[in-house]
Amino acid sequence: MERLHRPVLLSEVIENIKLISGGVYADLTFGEAGHSDVLLRNDIKLLVGNDQDRSTLDRYRTGGEYRDDPRLQLIEGPFSNFIKQTGEILFDGILVDLGVSTRQLLEAERGFSLRQAGPLDMRMNPGVGEPLSDWLSRLTPEELADELYRNAEIRESRSLARKIMAAFNEGALTNTVELAAIAGRKIPGKSHPATALFTALRMMVNYEKAEMEQTIPALINRLNSKGRLVVITFHSTEDRIIKKIFQKAAGRCVCEEPICRCVKEEKVKLITKKPIQTSEEELRENPRARSAKLRCVEKI
Ligand SMILES: C[S@@+](CC[C@H](N)C(=O)[O-])C[C@H]1O[C@@H](n2cnc3c(N)ncnc32)[C@H](O)[C@@H]1O
Repeated sequence: MERLHRPVLLSEVIENIKLISGGVYADLTFGEAGHSDVLLRNDIKLLVGNDQDRSTLDRYRTGGEYRDDPRLQLIEGPFSNFIKQTGEILFDGILVDLGVSTRQLLEAERGFSLRQAGPLDMRMNPGVGEPLSDWLSRLTPEELADELYRNAEIRESRSLARKIMAAFNEGALTNTVELAAIAGRKIPGKSHPATALFTALRMMVNYEKAEMEQTIPALINRLNSKGRLVVITFHSTEDRIIKKIFQKAAGRCVCEEPICRCVKEEKVKLITKKPIQTSEEELRENPRARSAKLRCVEKI
C-alpha cells in the first residue's frame, strides 16, 4: 500500500505505549496505519484500529500489510462511536494521533489544502455531517470569530471572521485557495497565515474539541491496570486540553479557583511530565511533524 503519511514520533510511540506479549491495543486514528503496522509486527493479541474516514480504512482493507490478520479489527466512526462499539474491552495501550493525515491534506477534493483549490468541505468523513460551506451559510460573523479564537487562538479572529463572511455572502469565496488568500500571504521562512485558520475551521467542522473532551477521559477508564494512553497533538489548544485531562486523572488540581474545588481521584501516573517533541533528525525528514507533542499516562 502506497503511504503518503509518515507516522510522527514513531519510536517514541512504541517506547511509551510499552508493548506486552499477548496485549490488547487500540489505535483511534488509524490513518495510513503507520503506527498500527508497527504495533502489529509485535506479538500482540488484538489491535482495534479506528478512523472516521471511510476511504482510509477502505484503502487498508484492499492493500494494507495486515488486512487479513485476524488480530486486526477495524471500526469506522468518530472517537465517541469507538467507545460504544468496543463495549467492555480493556486495553493495554491506546494511541490517539490527532489531526488530519498527509493524504487528507494532499487530496484537494477533501477541502483541507491551502495550496490546491478544493471545495469548502473539511469533513474527515465526507459522507457524514455538514461541509464547511453549510457552516458558513448559517454562522454569524461573531459565532465564527468565537470558533476561530477557541480552536486556534487566532488573535484577529473578529476581523478575519468578518472578511470571510463578507466574501462568502458575496459569492467571492468558493474554494480553499480563496479562503487561504483571505488570511494573508505567506512570508518566506514562516508558516502560512492560513494554517491556523484551516486548523480552527477543521476542528469546528469535525467537532474535534468536544470529541477530545468527552473521549479522552473515557479512554482512561478503558485501560487495564498499567495500560498506557499515548496522545499526539499538533496545536497548543489541543495540547492544553490533553494536559488538563491527564492532570485531572492524575489527581492534580486543574481548577482556576482561589480555593481548590477539584474532586481529586488518582487514576493514572503521568509518564511524560513534559510533552515529548520531535527530534531534529525527524524534523529534517518530516517537516510536517514540527508542532507534534506526545503525552502519555499509565493507569494505576
Ligand atoms: C494524523 S492522522 C493519523 C495517522 C496515522 N497515525 C498514521 O501513521 O498513518 C489522523 C487520522 O485520524 C482520523 N481522525 C481524526 N480525528 C478523529 C476523530 N475524532 N474520530 C475518528 N477519527 C479521527 C483522521 O481521519 C485521520 O485519518
